[in-house]
Amino acid sequence: MPRRPFVCGNWKMHRTVAEATALARELAAGLAGEARVQVAVAPPFTALAAVGAALRGTGIELAAQDVHWEAQGAFTGEVSAPMLAEVGCQHAIVGHSERRQLFGETDEAVRRKAGALLAAGIRPIVCVGETLAEREAGRTLEVVGRQVRGGLAGLGAGALASITIAYEPVWAIGTGRTATAAQAQEVHAAIRALLRELGGDAADAVRIQYGGSVKPGNAAELLSQPDVDGALVGGASLAAPDFIAIVKGALR
Ligand code: 13P
Repeated sequence: MPRRPFVCGNWKMHRTVAEATALARELAAGLAGEARVQVAVAPPFTALAAVGAALRGTGIELAAQDVHWEAQGAFTGEVSAPMLAEVGCQHAIVGHSERRQLFGETDEAVRRKAGALLAAGIRPIVCVGETLAEREAGRTLEVVGRQVRGGLAGLGAGALASITIAYEPVWAIGTGRTATAAQAQEVHAAIRALLRELGGDAADAVRIQYGGSVKPGNAAELLSQPDVDGALVGGASLAAPDFIAIVKGALR
């Protein structure tokens, strides 16, 4: 079974509610009837409900950028998985490198967040990726392997059916420097082999997205690789024509 490409726009800390709703409407108009690619957008928490309402019935899905692992409690500033489910999130990003680097998110936190999402019926997009220093030291597969194992530990083999992995080399995020298609494929194939170790044949159905300076001009080549099943797009997802072109480039 070929894997259906999955492209998600990560809007990071960009767009007010009004701006986010307008962007969502532009995307819906540009991608109407495009069912061959699964498409989602991840606006900031404040815009989730409004963007979800604007996207209802369009086929574009809603993702959150983070979540807390408890369902409720005294955790000032945090948002729980049941809260995300209530506003219509089908996906949530966990372990983004910005959260790991700037906010101290650990593999253990990623695992707890992924577990909480699964319990709430939300599909985790688990981000992994090495820094430039780690790549130059020849440690890419070791680091990514540790993040995948740590992020999925104990979730059970069945969890693979609901999980997306996003490989985002830290040195390629927001830098304009993209991994070559061959570099991406090497890591994606290693992730797939590890998933097979953890979950057997279920690994064949898992989508592994590439992220890091994905643009209309490089998306098609990256996505032509056998284990590159989609993209997690930052900067270019904020411009509707670019994001639409990337989705169309995902068709193979
Ligand atoms: P850029 O596409 O801006 O490099 O960001 C990638 C990313 O971090 C998506 O999650």
